[in-house]
Amino acid sequence: MLIRTTITEVKNAVAAYRSENRDGIVGFVPTMGFLHEGHASLMRRSKAESGLTVLSIFVNPLQFGPNEDFERYPRNVERDLELAGKENVDIVFMPPVQEMYPKPVKTKVLISEVTDRLCGASRPGHFDGVGTVVSKLFHIIGPDRAYFGLKDAQQVAVIAKMTEDLNIPVEIVPCETVREADGLALSSRNVYLNDAERIQAVVLSQALNKASELSRSESETPASLRGKLVQYITEAAPLSDIDYVEVLGYPDLTELNNNLPLKGINESWIVAMAVRFGSTRLIDNRLFTAKEVASHV
Ligand code: PAJ
Repeated sequence: MLIRTTITEVKNAVAAYRSENRDGIVGFVPTMGFLHEGHASLMRRSKAESGLTVLSIFVNPLQFGPNEDFERYPRNVERDLELAGKENVDIVFMPPVQEMYPKPVKTKVLISEVTDRLCGASRPGHFDGVGTVVSKLFHIIGPDRAYFGLKDAQQVAVIAKMTEDLNIPVEIVPCETVREADGLALSSRNVYLNDAERIQAVVLSQALNKASELSRSESETPASLRGKLVQYITEAAPLSDIDYVEVLGYPDLTELNNNLPLKGINESWIVAMAVRFGSTRLIDNRLFTAKEVASHV
């Protein structure tokens, strides 16, 4: 496994592979490190589908708000490299901040509308930071495919729109969310939870199960479902503080017709939530397609 910390070196390593493998596929997994099974699942998928897999580990200051957890974001490079090695990643790119942002940034990628709701609304500027760094990484690595987790479904929608709008020649591959045995979606931030919070954090995935159940009824509309989920979370988890619970079209993240039952909607839609436990903000979501809801009739 090659470990590269400068842009020139990682470019050279990818170029060396390309020059010897004219038809080789380069797969890319961008991360902020503190790797877990969710990240590993992306690496595995890339390994299965690509000739060369590049993993990046970079905690991107640009996507953290002034009062967010950039400084205390969990880091453990040694463990990350061990996990990457186990997954047979070919190249790890782990640049210092100074390498990615040697001078103040004057150019940003601003993605509109699809960033108006959900985490885009709660975290102003967050997706501009994500779009900017992912676009820089795409330019540096030049992958054929890039693997993203649907745990961050809005991020997938934002990156897909950015690559489409800017004609970046990379295929975005969305990957299923990996969960703990009790349903909690794996996240680097789960380590912040104390024991009581960890127990109650299962409420997010339970609310999503409830959403599946409720959406099959004849009368459930986006607004009524949203209301029931807010009530469920509040009652089941007294330590929770809801940031948002939303039921929206996917991937455009536009408002659904609230006069129509979800069963009658013939576009894909998402139930997405962000819930705080103490100072830890957790997100989770589930995607639904019209066919899926109808098949449970
Ligand atoms: P990070 O939070 O480290 O996540 C890296 C990738 O792992 C993302 O695509 C994310 O959706 C995926 N992931 C996280 N938890 C997952 C889980 N439980 N199951 C499946 N996939 C999971 O997302 C970022 O970093 C950054 O915003 C980044 C794209 C690297 C830009 O800085």
